[in-house]
Amino acid sequence: MSSILAAPIPTPIDTWKIPLAALAAQRRNFQKLLNPAEQARAARFVFDHDQERFVIARGALRTVLGHYLSAPPATIGFNYGPHGKPSVQECALEFNLSHAADWAYLAISKSAPVGIDVERLRVPSRHGWLDLARRFFSASEVAELTAMPPDKQTESFFACWTRKEAYIKLHGRGLSLPLAQFSVSTAPDSKATLRTSEWLPGDVSHTAMHDLSAPQGYRACVAAHTESSIIVCQHQWADLALKKF
Ligand SMILES: CC(C)(COP(=O)(O)OP(=O)(O)OC[C@H]1O[C@@H](n2cnc3c(N)ncnc32)[C@H](O)[C@@H]1OP(=O)(O)O)[C@@H](O)C(=O)NCCC(=O)NCCS
Repeated sequence: MSSILAAPIPTPIDTWKIPLAALAAQRRNFQKLLNPAEQARAARFVFDHDQERFVIARGALRTVLGHYLSAPPATIGFNYGPHGKPSVQECALEFNLSHAADWAYLAISKSAPVGIDVERLRVPSRHGWLDLARRFFSASEVAELTAMPPDKQTESFFACWTRKEAYIKLHGRGLSLPLAQFSVSTAPDSKATLRTSEWLPGDVSHTAMHDLSAPQGYRACVAAHTESSIIVCQHQWADLALKKF
């Protein structure tokens, strides 16, 4: 009798794309959701623009989590890991947030730790992105980026960056996880993959990544710690009102 091995069920991950600039008119409403520590943090921003983006991102985070937890957004409590990664108090829901310029991205999972990163593609420094890659990325990533045609280098650099940062943020260890000691795929059109991890070799088979659709001029990636593959449902902010999740 032949045995049939069932493939593991993919881990569902929800992502939310939050339009920070478009939500600026709702800043006061979001501000009311913040707790005293968050209000104090908001007050410490030197530039109003930065304060506004923080308030909207944190208020939007609370709003989305409130829907998942069926709780008033202002009542949600956060714990912080040793390097600052926030998690919901007394709750198994996993999440991670990233913001860049006009956009924030949020990843939510009921079962797997997640990390997410969004970056705005920027003009390279005088020496180009390769200089930065040589200082911080792994040897194999540098070799791949060097071989890219010049017109692909900025996008490849940020594809690599967002994949690496999503992996770092998944573990919540910040830059205590040396960037050169793990490698991801670098070609912008290739599947986002963790290829090697000297730090935790087992992660290669326990980390799934997915590039997210992003506005022109941005790149975004989500990573999850799971033995299975992931299935990513990418929500827009407007889905919240429609309860399409
Ligand atoms: C927080 C950190 C992990 C990312 O910072 P960042 O890139 O400036 O910011 P992002 O917008 O992607 O993420 C910030 C959010 O992540 C969450 N966060 C904070 N600390 C975190 C941590 N240690 N791990 C995961 N998430 C964290 C918070 O929700 C934070 O939002 P807030 O600032 O509104 O509270 C930072 O500690 C860090 O290590 N930055 C490294 C940047 C870098 O050089 N990356 C190279 C990648 S190749």
